[in-house]
Amino acid sequence: MYTVPNFQNPTGITYSEENRLAIADMMKNTNTLIIEDDPYGDLRFTGHHKTSIKKLLPQHTILLGSFSKTIAPGFRLGWIVAPNHIMEKLIIAKQASDLHTNYFVQRIIGILHYIQKVVDT
Ligand SMILES: Cc1ncc(COP(=O)(O)O)c(C=O)c1O
Repeated sequence: MYTVPNFQNPTGITYSEENRLAIADMMKNTNTLIIEDDPYGDLRFTGHHKTSIKKLLPQHTILLGSFSKTIAPGFRLGWIVAPNHIMEKLIIAKQASDLHTNYFVQRIIGILHYIQKVVDT
């Protein structure tokens, strides 16, 4: 199952907490893998961040994020949180596809996050 629970493109729809719980409840006894694509979740300007489906069903869910919308689309950098047995396979597939992600860009994002943390405290 593929889903964009936050600020879905192009509708802008965000799932309610009730709908997230309903999805988790519906999927928990299945073998279905959920791809939770969340490139827009950090673009929230008001209200609270909603519970991710990954948090509700960690072993069933792969969570995807991107720095394209929050920092720079040209960096072409995103991230994945997945169960260990899936992550092992994803790492091999990624290495076969491009060897590794640009290290300089990863360091810039890391430094920007560090600065943000210092500013927030
Ligand atoms: C739903 C959705 N997922 C993922 C992406 C991926 O973005 P990027 O490849 O820039 O990280 C986009 C980009 O617009 C998107 O709309």
